[in-house]
Parts: sequence; structure tokens; C-alpha cells
Amino acid sequence: MSAGLPQVATPTTVHCDHLIQAQVGGPQDLARAIDINKEVYDFLQTATAKYNIGFWGPGSGIIHQIVLENYAFPGALMIGTDSHTPNAGGLGMLAIGVGGADAVDVMADLPWELKAPKIIGVKLTGKLNGWTSPKDVILKVAGILTVKGGTGAIVEYFGEGVEALSCTGMGTICNMGAEIGATTSVFPFNERMVQYLSATSRANIGQFAKLYPDFLSADEGAEYDQLIEIDLNTLEPHVNGPFTPDLATPISKLKDVAVENGWPTEVKVGLIGSCTNSSYEDMDRSANIARDAMAHGLKSKAIYTVTPGSEQIRATIERDGQLQTFLDFGGLVLANACGPCIGQWDRRDIKKGDKNTIVSSYNRNFTGRNDSNPATHAFVTSPDLVTAFAIAGDLRFNPITDTLKDKDGNEFKLKAPYGDSLPTKGYDAGKDTYQAPPADRSKVVVAVSPTSDRLQLLQPFKPWDGKDGKDLPILIKSLGKTTTDHISQAGPWLKYRGHLQNISNNYMIGAINAENGEANNIKNVYNGKWGGVPETAIAYRDQGIKWVVIGGENFGEGSSREHAALEPRYLGGFAIITKSFARIHETNLKKQGLLPLNFVEADAYDKIQPDDKVDILGLTELAPGKNVTLVVKPKNGEAWETPLSHTYNAEQIEWFKYGSALNKMAAAKK
Ligand code: F3S
Repeated sequence: MSAGLPQVATPTTVHCDHLIQAQVGGPQDLARAIDINKEVYDFLQTATAKYNIGFWGPGSGIIHQIVLENYAFPGALMIGTDSHTPNAGGLGMLAIGVGGADAVDVMADLPWELKAPKIIGVKLTGKLNGWTSPKDVILKVAGILTVKGGTGAIVEYFGEGVEALSCTGMGTICNMGAEIGATTSVFPFNERMVQYLSATSRANIGQFAKLYPDFLSADEGAEYDQLIEIDLNTLEPHVNGPFTPDLATPISKLKDVAVENGWPTEVKVGLIGSCTNSSYEDMDRSANIARDAMAHGLKSKAIYTVTPGSEQIRATIERDGQLQTFLDFGGLVLANACGPCIGQWDRRDIKKGDKNTIVSSYNRNFTGRNDSNPATHAFVTSPDLVTAFAIAGDLRFNPITDTLKDKDGNEFKLKAPYGDSLPTKGYDAGKDTYQAPPADRSKVVVAVSPTSDRLQLLQPFKPWDGKDGKDLPILIKSLGKTTTDHISQAGPWLKYRGHLQNISNNYMIGAINAENGEANNIKNVYNGKWGGVPETAIAYRDQGIKWVVIGGENFGEGSSREHAALEPRYLGGFAIITKSFARIHETNLKKQGLLPLNFVEADAYDKIQPDDKVDILGLTELAPGKNVTLVVKPKNGEAWETPLSHTYNAEQIEWFKYGSALNKMAAAKK
């Protein structure tokens, strides 16, 4: 809309999977979510229809599963606004997770940039067997590389071990590459992809890809920046956690490690599903483990939840019986959505603060992620092990070596899991939850109530007035770490993501003011009154006063949250001047028409005082690689100058001049 385009420039779909809270079970939870979030869903439904975007409504499933089932194909490039977008690497696609601002660029036909990544090769030999599953490949890789080891890299899997992995299993491995910070992960085109494409009504794509196998796999003798080898014959099942997905423990050591570390050994909840592990194969294997237990008179000892990844998976496992098995086993089948994986979980079995253990087949297990309880020890592992732990109710249980007692007290061992990688009767699409954009979109009205407090249409920002910045106040000089969470907090504010005015009331409320060491308490330099950061910024803006922020190192690190750049622009900011920026935040600021500038002289940050005023000179000659000048004018004392550097290229300077990247885009289309 802001780009002034009649439709998206690149094929686009929208998916609703994050706002459905798990409480009592799929249908009721979905109905409640549709009620609570109605205006958001109505907006998405109409906006997608208007701008020629496919819409997968609430209950359709998790974006990455739907993409694998419908859109991913070998050799393609895709971006998605979720960090687990690389899931589609299981179908040989280069799929990269980005922030919303990058997605907007692609939808609006702006070029999308990415620093050339390094390539990490992972050679797989041997064949998975017994209780080991594809999840264990990535759990092992996470243990080797840690949460930072893949930063700025694409992970490419290869070797004869690839052949025995199912397509959805490869998806699992690529999905969780996000946990090592990888840009994306990818598998070479192979026969399992052809089979999956055929099972999902895309046999023609598989046949076409077969004509170009050399384009869709690594070059002969390719060299890697780093090489890892994993022998699948000897790879053990792993359990990673608690609190971080790279703390990898093989199942043979888990008993001792858990006891040594004092982790609670009683497993309170087992959760299977999520975008990482909700394929037909995952569901079938877990159902078979559950059937084995039930044949011995056992059910799940722990609470056991199942999240189907899509309506297609749900309908297929309902038809083929796995869903009934989970219910018989004592399980709770949740809506086809993210649910507890994104903290949408009304957990009632413990109190907040109770130390306890949960085990999931998800991908992330940072403190409080699932249930907001910092004392919950969350472990991630395969759905097979989640199910085994749920039966035993104990983290010390090793299904490879340990026995369970059946209903008569006799000892038995669970059979190693097995399951179909694809449904033999084909997939059942289930309810039709997809809304294609209508052929005639001219009459569609985008539904945004003017009185809504969750939605507000964005107005274009004003272009630059062509003048240097003069006598600008410092809104806040922030002290120490200033992450995107300090700049634009999440939690309760997330519901205002569609309403820039309302979400701007959280601007910098977590940042520490260098003047008094306090958060959200700054001085209005014109009237001397102390108040919150957003209120003060609004007061300046409403008097036509532009302002700057002064920050330290790696300003804007953390998530790629674009609100951290939209908010200061909306509140009248002109420049953000720091020792250094986190890369994505710096780009986001440029896109919204703010000036991200860096001190060249190391001591300038320390010398500048919160009630100084500043000029920024040289903007009329702003050019790549050319510094501008900051003139600092203390309240009482001599003015002094210091150079400021920037990383603008020629195209980005146009964004600044036009007021935002989208303004530039809109002007070019006129
Ligand atoms: Fe995936 Fe949704 Fe969790 S996208 S990581 S299942 S929040």
C-alpha cells in the first residue's frame, strides 16, 4: 500500500499461525482465537485479497509446513518473515528468514541484499537406524557449532547418507539450522524430493528438476569454509537443553548428566509437532510408539500434546488413525498452529516459578519460551524420544537400553520407531482453508476500523527537507547494551504491531539513560521536565523539533524487528548516532529514512552530554564513503566538532532523500 503498487511484485502468501493459544484442544482453541483476533484476521484477509496475495487463514497450519506442501521446489529462492523459513531447504530450495522490512522490499520489487555467505559443508555417511532420526543430525550439528557457529553461513548437506533421509526429515534438519544462526541450510536435489513433490500434487516439478541434477547439487570437488562429517550409522539420539538448543547430550549420557546438573528428572509434559517435526512420518512413528506402549497396557504418564503442522497433516492422520491413537494414549490434539512453541500455551499443571521439566520436538528452548516460566527446564529432541519420555515420565529413561513395566509388572522394551515417510493412501487435504485472491480486486476494501487500537494504516513519511540538521536535541544518550528489545519491547506490545502510533509508546522504554542510569526517565531540554522517552519524543515532534539518539556499541542487536526503526521515524527522529550498529537494524533505519551515523573518534561518545545540542553538517553532499560532521554545542561551553561515518551506498542515499525506501519506490512507479 505504501509503495503505491496495485499488487505485490513477487508471488506472496500470508499465514496465520502465531496467535492461537493452546488451552483445551484444537477446535475450541481455534474458535476462541478467531473471536479475539477477528479484526486482525479480517484485515489480513482483505489486504491479501486487494493486493493479489494468497491467504492461509487461522487453522490452516504452520507456515513452514504449508510452504513445504505447496510452494517450495528445488532450485528456487524464497524469503520468509520467520527464522525457520529454511525448512524449505528440505526440498532443495534456498529459503531465508528475514525481517518484515526486507519482505516489504521484495513484495514491492526493491532489490534485496545479503552479504555473501560462507558455506559450511556437512557430509553425511552411513544410514540412520534404531531410535536415531533426522532431528538428531541437527541436534548434533548444533552441539558442534553452537548457537553462533553458523552465523553468516549457508549449511550445505551432502554425502551418501542423504539418500536415506525422507524429504520432510531433510526439512527438519534445515529448519533447525536457524538455531546455529545459519542464513539457511540446503540439501541437494534427490529422489526423495521427487517422491514428496509427487505426493503433494507436483509430480511435474519433480520430473522437470530431474533434467537438471547438476544445477541442483554441489559442484564436483566443491570446497567449504568449514567441513563437518557425521556417520549416521553411529549417530546417537540426542536431547538438547535445557535453556539453549546447543547443549547437546547423547541419550546414553543423559541419565548421568541430568542427575549431575540437578535437572528435574520427572517429565511433566511431552509436546510433539511444530514446524520442525510435524510431518506425516513424525506423526506415524510417534503413533506406533504409543501403540506399542498401549499394547502393554500403558498410556502417557506425562501430559502429551500433539500439534499437527497443517490441516492436511491433521486430516490425513485423522483418516489413517494416528490421531485416534494419540487420543487413546491420553494425548491432547491442539490446533494446527504454533501454540506452545511460541508461548501460546495456557499451561495449568504447575505454578509459575515451579522447577520442572518438559520435552518437546520443537526447535527453541530459551528460558520461558513455551510457558513463560523461567524455572521450566525445556529440552528439544525427536518426536520419537518425546513420546518415549512421556511414557516413562522420566528424563533418565533410555529406550535403547532400558525396560518399562507393563500393566502386569512384566518388563518390556519399546520397539524402535518405524513409520511411513509418506501416506500410502495419499494426503487428505482436509478443510479448504486457503483463500486465493479474487480475479477482480478493484472492489475489495481493506478492513481497518478507524477506531481500532490494533490496526492503523501507515502514512508515508515526509521527504527530507534538503537541509542539514541544526540545533537538534538529544532525546536520550543510551548507556550500555541497547538491543531491539530495549528499543521496542515485545510481550504485551506485540498486539500493537499493526498500529504504529500505539506501539510507538514503547520506544526506548527499556534503554538506560546515561544521565541518570534509569530506564524511561529523560529530561525535556526545553522545559526541564522529566518524563518517559515516548512522551518526550512526541512533545518534540509536535513542536516541529527533530531529535537525535546517541548510542554505544552494536546498537540494535537482537531481532530484526522493524518497529525499532519505524518508531523513531514516526516520533520525529532525524539521526541515530552510535559507536556501531547491528547490521539489520542499521539497514532498517536507512529504509525508514533515518540517518544511522557512527562516531569516528572513539572518545566522542563519552564527551557528548545528554543536554548538548547538535548540528549535522554535510548532508547536502552526502555520498558513499564520505564522512559528515557533528557539531556539538554544550549548554555552557565551547562548541566542538567530530566526524561521523556512515555505510550508505548511492541507492540508499535516495531512501534518505525521499523519506523512506518505500517513498522512493512509490516515486519511481509514478
Ligand atoms: Fe515454528 Fe511456529 Fe515454533 S514457526 S518455531 S512452530 S513458533
